[in-house]
Amino acid sequence: MMKQFHSFRLDPVNLCLWRGDARVPLRPKAFDLLRYLVEHADRLVTQDEILEALWAGTYVNPEVVKKYVLEVRKALGDRPGAPAFIETVPRRGYRFVAPVRDSAIPGPSSSTGTGSRVVVGRATPRARLERCFDHALQGQRQVIFVTGEAGVGKTTLAEVFHQHVAGRPKVRIARGHCVEGFGGKEAYYPLLEALGQLMRGRDRAPVVQTLAERAPTWLVQFPSLVKTEQREALQRDLLGTTRERMVREICEALEALTSESPLVLVLEDLHWVDLSTLDVISALARRRGPTRLLVLGTYRPADIAGGSPLRGLNHRHSGGNPLFMVAIVQDMVKKALIAQDHGAWRLAVPLGEIAPAVPETLQQMLEVQFGQLSEAEQRTLERASVAGERFSVWSITTPADVSPEHVERVCEGLADRQQFIRSAGLQQLADESVSSSYEFRHSLYRGTVYERLSDAHRSRLHRMIGDRLKSLCTLGQQELAGELATHFEEGGDYRQAVDYLILSAANAVRRFAYRESIQPLERALALVPRCPAGTRAGLEILVRERLGDTHYWFGAMPDSARAYESAAARAAAAGLTAARVHALSCLVRPFGLIEPDRGIAAIEEAEHLAASLDDPLQQAHIRLLAAGSRLLYDTWRTKDWDTCAAAREAIHRLTDAELPPYHRVIYAHLQLLKGEYADALRNLDPGIPTMNEPASLMAYFFALSGRTLALLHSGQFGDLMRIIRAGTAMAEKNGSDPWLFSFREAWLRTVIRDFAGARQLCDTLSRTTGEQSQRQPVTWILSPPRRTSRSRTIARLATGYADLEHGRYEEATRQFQAILDPEITPKFFLHWYWRMNAQLGLCNVWLAAGDLRRARTEADRFLESACSTAEPNLKALAWEAQARIEMAGQNWTAALDRIQKGLAIVETFGIPVAGWQVHATYWDVCRLTRDDAAAETHRAQAEAALDSLADSFDADDPLRQLFLSASEVRRIRSAGAGGEDVQEDGSNARARTDRRSARRRGARRR
Ligand SMILES: Nc1ncnc2c1ncn2[C@@H]1O[C@H](COP(=O)(O)OP(=O)(O)OP(=O)(O)O)[C@@H](O)[C@H]1O
Ligand SMILES: [Mg+2]
Repeated sequence: MMKQFHSFRLDPVNLCLWRGDARVPLRPKAFDLLRYLVEHADRLVTQDEILEALWAGTYVNPEVVKKYVLEVRKALGDRPGAPAFIETVPRRGYRFVAPVRDSAIPGPSSSTGTGSRVVVGRATPRARLERCFDHALQGQRQVIFVTGEAGVGKTTLAEVFHQHVAGRPKVRIARGHCVEGFGGKEAYYPLLEALGQLMRGRDRAPVVQTLAERAPTWLVQFPSLVKTEQREALQRDLLGTTRERMVREICEALEALTSESPLVLVLEDLHWVDLSTLDVISALARRRGPTRLLVLGTYRPADIAGGSPLRGLNHRHSGGNPLFMVAIVQDMVKKALIAQDHGAWRLAVPLGEIAPAVPETLQQMLEVQFGQLSEAEQRTLERASVAGERFSVWSITTPADVSPEHVERVCEGLADRQQFIRSAGLQQLADESVSSSYEFRHSLYRGTVYERLSDAHRSRLHRMIGDRLKSLCTLGQQELAGELATHFEEGGDYRQAVDYLILSAANAVRRFAYRESIQPLERALALVPRCPAGTRAGLEILVRERLGDTHYWFGAMPDSARAYESAAARAAAAGLTAARVHALSCLVRPFGLIEPDRGIAAIEEAEHLAASLDDPLQQAHIRLLAAGSRLLYDTWRTKDWDTCAAAREAIHRLTDAELPPYHRVIYAHLQLLKGEYADALRNLDPGIPTMNEPASLMAYFFALSGRTLALLHSGQFGDLMRIIRAGTAMAEKNGSDPWLFSFREAWLRTVIRDFAGARQLCDTLSRTTGEQSQRQPVTWILSPPRRTSRSRTIARLATGYADLEHGRYEEATRQFQAILDPEITPKFFLHWYWRMNAQLGLCNVWLAAGDLRRARTEADRFLESACSTAEPNLKALAWEAQARIEMAGQNWTAALDRIQKGLAIVETFGIPVAGWQVHATYWDVCRLTRDDAAAETHRAQAEAALDSLADSFDADDPLRQLFLSASEVRRIRSAGAGGEDVQEDGSNARARTDRRSARRRGARRR
């Protein structure tokens, strides 16, 4: 239904205004404004209401409303003094005062409604599209591509289809354009553009709601829509987000939206598409299940292989290319070769006279047209062609040379005559002012003008526009980075080009699109040799380090290490020692995960070089990192610990600030290895990582992993399980492997003696390694290569103990020995801790097998290595093992001495896990020496420790029950409840049996 007022009709289907049979030109926003006023005729419409209705979600200067009201008034021929249509209510708003009635008279039907365009033919593809749309309405998803050479009419077809769909009630339509980028492409660009439209559209609430529920990874890409109080929860929710999650979430959200009303997504110029958008399109196409979704993409097959998009210019004039046809016809109209006569077009001269005048190629044709423009028009179009397909008047004027009003008049004139450009509404600038913007009628129009420019002139203009646009590329609005990089590269300002390429890479990381961040960095690297000589080395080092970071976040450790290594080599060649030290210290991160020894070598080289620098703070940082890495990845040495502690002191002295996050987490790990759990936990408070910032994400995961160890060793199993469950859920949401958390659970299961469960978890871990980590570019911690070393180690330990329990001593020995063999088990994070546990395992096997000599050898080795560390659990258990060896040799005094040494450690540190085992062995020793009172004291203490461990689980946690049903745990607890084990009658015979069974138990113990 149309709204009619005076001689005007407002056409809600074709979104235009008619006066009689003529279409009144109005920019889209002006039309929207008029429509809003007409729909609310006869009442006051406030300025705020207009802003809310037309510019929801974006901040707009109220001046803009005035500007559009002016445009509408002009179009209606209204007079501000005596308004017949729009009345201004001072300082309030506006009122539409003309009488409005509904009219069913359709607009002129000759036009299919794509603006002022008349569309010729195309009946078959139109019908096909409409059929596809009908299928989509039935719930059959449709992904359709319209392909063909430049100017063949793809966009036109898409627009005709758009109009057709817009005529249907309650259909959502969104469009996104791909833009060409030289250095790289902005990830998800067209999809973000299309979503942005939906989020600002009339019924945006359900869209925002759906994104919040189903696609938080996408919601955060629109910071203005995230409420402050949501932000924190969202940040936690987005930890470790992967590309897979982004893709899955947007598919789910779009599909969910279609349950309410059908959705049409038009994605234009896919020959310039970025990889991430392509992922989404192919996922949408592959997904099953009904959805009322239609995706329409357009592309030029010839441009897909890459190359300059301007290649299209060389298309020969071919029969029937609509673009060419349009150009020819316009030319003929201009030359009055054809003219309108009573609504029909007729030739004004004989056909034979026209043909020779038609240029051979489209390019020639457009050049002829360009040549006929005025000087000012040509200058304006030249600048515009450099600015891009779409440009604002502001961007192509510099305050010094031409006035924006003049340029705007020139543009308006060209647009009115349908030459080269058309109006594209207003553009909001960063400083809240607005500027009219225009777009080329077709990319070939732009190409013609652009190609005519001399190299020097073109380059000057690129630089001018780059400098102009720079101020728009502000924090939080960095999408222009890729475009700016192009302008500066084309403008020969390589220094700035490199800066913006680096920014563009950071943009991709914000969208969790790590792949897209590599491309601009590599482009930057290629441009570095063209930067001013004095800046080259510094820039190259910076870019290479960024590449190292990106590969690291992406999970590609060898690539990451190579990038840091080349940064260090470049710094070495340039004699930049501080930069070299920095690059070398970065190496320890990727190498820590793949080749710890090389990581340590790198950081030691950095330490050595730093000594020559006069920077005590950096020296202290490097010292802490070097000694810390040796402790965590090589072996525990008291000297290294002292170095770390001293470095930390020095850092505190030199600066008031905390340790940097990575250093702090390293330090906290050392604290927890020394049994200082409360201090470690304080330093391991993971905080909330900065969203989308991998460096902070990495420190977060490292801290989380340290926390799980501190909780494990201090016996807070419930808290530990909460972290594990939350982490696993998060990993599942991201579609990544919950490796870290499964590993921690397996560790916990060995501690509560659920060896079968531990083994099962590890087996699953080993199966999913390799191929999956290749496939999933995820944050490092979720997919470290070689994690097999760790999970295999814990699996071997669990298997070894299970074998031991079932008397399979040979098998058990093999498992423990494999852990000790560096050929089979290369170094990994805290590998020494696990190797010592394997020594204990071997000692237990020999004890159980009755080979006291070998058992003693292993126990002694274990004691020696444990005592070289500061780890209280290992130390206490090493003395406890010694006590059992002495018991087995019936050396009661020695046994008592050893277990007392163990107990002294337990009493110094809060280590309940080793604690209950020491007390249990103490109990056994006392029983054998007939000290009943002491025996019961220690049994009771063992039981108390066990109970508090069990109680630290949530009451309904199945692990709690598993723990309580472990045989050794049952032995201790049932003895306290008056079970047979504790009933001693004091007879020698009975004592001897007890000794034998105690020996057996001791052997089975761990
Ligand atoms: N069926 C048609 N009837 C009339 N004019 C048409 C038709 N198809 C295209 N045109 C005109 O031809 C010109 C180019 O068409 P369009 O922009 O749709 O091409 P395209 O295939 O999208 O090109 P590109 O590959 O560069 O995006 C436009 O000016 C358009 O108005
Ligand atoms: Mg097109």
